Amino acid sequence: MQDYMYDPAYRHLLKAKEIAQKENVIPELQTEINRSIELFQQKINYCDDQTIPPSPALHSLITDTLAYPWSDAYKEGRVSYSVDTAMLSGNSEAQLIKSITSASKARMVLEIGLFTGCASLAMAEALPAEGKVVALELDQGIADVARSFLDKSPAGNKIEIITGPAIESLEKLAEKKTKFDVIFMDANKEGYVPYYKMIFEKDLLASGGTLIVDNVLKNGDTYSGEHSDSKSWAITNFNELVLQDNRVHKVMLPLRDGVYIIRRKEDTDASVPEKKGDLNYIK
Ligand SMILES: C[S@@+](CC[C@H](N)C(=O)[O-])C[C@H]1O[C@@H](n2cnc3c(N)ncnc32)[C@H](O)[C@@H]1O
Repeated sequence: MQDYMYDPAYRHLLKAKEIAQKENVIPELQTEINRSIELFQQKINYCDDQTIPPSPALHSLITDTLAYPWSDAYKEGRVSYSVDTAMLSGNSEAQLIKSITSASKARMVLEIGLFTGCASLAMAEALPAEGKVVALELDQGIADVARSFLDKSPAGNKIEIITGPAIESLEKLAEKKTKFDVIFMDANKEGYVPYYKMIFEKDLLASGGTLIVDNVLKNGDTYSGEHSDSKSWAITNFNELVLQDNRVHKVMLPLRDGVYIIRRKEDTDASVPEKKGDLNYIK
């Protein structure tokens, strides 16, 4: 899916174009609509062109993911649901996450929702040799495909995949007192609130760490108020929780389907004293 398709304004413009053609409206109006559509596309393409391209390994992983016979895998029962490759995070987001990982001088990184490993590989490429990505994936078949792709990548050996429901994996990681410098949350949207609470209640995010959350605009449903399904409501509720959480610094970027960057205020604001252990902010 092209990134501009996430924007409901773009989708409305496509409809307007169709109506304008059908109703034969004045050419000046049709020209304006067409130019607006073009500008949406040009903006995204320009940003993509101005972004560093993927490494050869990441490029192969992306093309292998798109070319993989997912419908056969589903028919043959190798994956548990019908996979849509639009789940792939893609290069611009992978490079943002890589940039944050390298700027954090991260050593331990967590991805909640691996799919074929696009974001995990980008983060692994930014880690030192002894660094590690722990990647959580529900579906064993998808995890197997990801492993086969990652094994072809020079940085793939830094990625450990844990299969099973993310909430259970997070619980086990917390029991072992594992802490992560960067966490990328991109699994089932209904899980965002419980994952967030667990990350902060169980201290999975290391001091100075950054939590990055994907799909926080949910195709525009969050700000248009036109919630299409329970996933959209889950994201809206999650966003509200983060907004009301006075202990965190947050910035939402309209990149792709929306990305939230969340850090503890004590790590971003010199005037905020450390208040570790105070969990009253979570509703
Ligand atoms: C949007 S995709 C992740 C895309 C990936 N982050 C990337 O960079 O391309 C979401 C993934 O989360 C997995 N998933 C869904 N529910 C899950 C759960 N409860 N626990 C762990 N993984 C889950 C899905 O199988 C899917 O592979």
